[in-house]
Amino acid sequence: MEQKIQLKESDIPRQWYNLAADLPTPLLPPLGPDGNPVSPDMLAPVFPMNLIEQEVSAERWIDIPEDILNILYRWRPAPLKRAVYLEKYLETPARIYYKDESYSPPGSHKPNTAVAQAWYNKEFGIKKLTTETGAGQWGSALAFACQLLGLECKVFMVRISFDQKPFRKIMMQVWGANCVPSPSNETNAGRKVLEMMPDTPGSLGIAISEAIEEAVTDTSGTTRYSLGSVLNHVLLHQTIIGLEAKKQLEMAGEKLPDIIIGCAGGGSNFAGLSFPFVADKINGADIKIIPVEPTACPTMTRAPFAYDFGDTACTTPLLAMYTLGHAFIPPPIHAGGLRYHGMAPLVCQAIVEGLLEPRAYHQLDSYKAAMTWAKTEGAIAAPETSQAIAAVIEEANTAKEEGKEKVILFNYSGHGLMDLMGYDAYLSGKLVDYELPEEELQKYLKDLENLPKAEMRKSGKW
Ligand SMILES: Cc1ncc(COP(=O)(O)O)c(C=O)c1O
Repeated sequence: MEQKIQLKESDIPRQWYNLAADLPTPLLPPLGPDGNPVSPDMLAPVFPMNLIEQEVSAERWIDIPEDILNILYRWRPAPLKRAVYLEKYLETPARIYYKDESYSPPGSHKPNTAVAQAWYNKEFGIKKLTTETGAGQWGSALAFACQLLGLECKVFMVRISFDQKPFRKIMMQVWGANCVPSPSNETNAGRKVLEMMPDTPGSLGIAISEAIEEAVTDTSGTTRYSLGSVLNHVLLHQTIIGLEAKKQLEMAGEKLPDIIIGCAGGGSNFAGLSFPFVADKINGADIKIIPVEPTACPTMTRAPFAYDFGDTACTTPLLAMYTLGHAFIPPPIHAGGLRYHGMAPLVCQAIVEGLLEPRAYHQLDSYKAAMTWAKTEGAIAAPETSQAIAAVIEEANTAKEEGKEKVILFNYSGHGLMDLMGYDAYLSGKLVDYELPEEELQKYLKDLENLPKAEMRKSGKW
């Protein structure tokens, strides 16, 4: 039995898969400040038109340009691995497979879309991209992509992560980007927050406001904003993960997996792995598909499905999603990439349909799982990824109790070699669990009261 299932470069998928084409109930449209659906040209100051076209596309398959594949070959196709040592340790009859996205130069799945977005922006004549980053994984992925494609890159990094993860900032600098802590004094949005809360740890919502402001106020018209998750086109670019996995599972002699797991911050690595299989579920396959989040930021498991802004300064269109409220300031847990207040609308609509079964884990449980992973498989997982590992271990133990040979597939979204402070806190007994208090959640949700309501449309099939 092979532990690593490798595809040849010539077998790389040549099209991305768009779940929007197959969802039984369509997405609710993004709304503008007047409550009417946003038209593509209204997004033009923020994104290039070629990416806006992908954002609103209902085509099932979208060709991957050859130039993008030529960059992705640096690390793709990514290996599918079998976690034989974890299986043995758990004495489970389950067969556990994972896509190793830590294999990319920046160390996560994020460059799959960073490269595509930088390429489409360059094609459109854009010279500079701005963005936000939480854990620094996205910022370093975009810096990497901009370096390879010759674009300037400015990254607003959430203050708490900027302090906890200085090495990520250095990676961005090595790849030629300018990285500043957010909130910063460089934008109106940042200055306003700093006036009210000078000691704030920051949030992705604030950093997004800053990055958008910097893009749309560049009078040369050659700066655009780039988002590392949540939006349809970002999830689309990540589907190369699941499409590769499908071919690799077949090579391993497996049919469809019984269980698919991914951690979800904005939803992109989870969607990238699972959406090609969600299509199978829509067509009748029996697959349990689990997006995992932290109890400290329980968007999918406790928040309402509502129209909300994507950022704190309320500059983005309103998206229909599960949301903790745009003013939500998450507790400073170490999984910085899982602290966003909202969730990708495509993931949310699939939850509303009943196609997905979201789950939340405590921080301590996820570090315990990551320690088991390091002890058995050997690798040190990103704190975000360890949330997925906690769910994998729970499902493998359930398979053992039931005596069933289940096939579990999960996304190993990144390594944790730049996130060792969290492991240090765990090992020295300083790490604590956070469960968002109900009163606090209700306080943030008050901001949704005057926004349009989002109808929960479902076919009732799942
Ligand atoms: C390694 C890793 N996994 C997961 C995530 C969560 O993001 P998403 O839900 O978009 O995959 C991040 C975000 O920074 C990350 O760095």
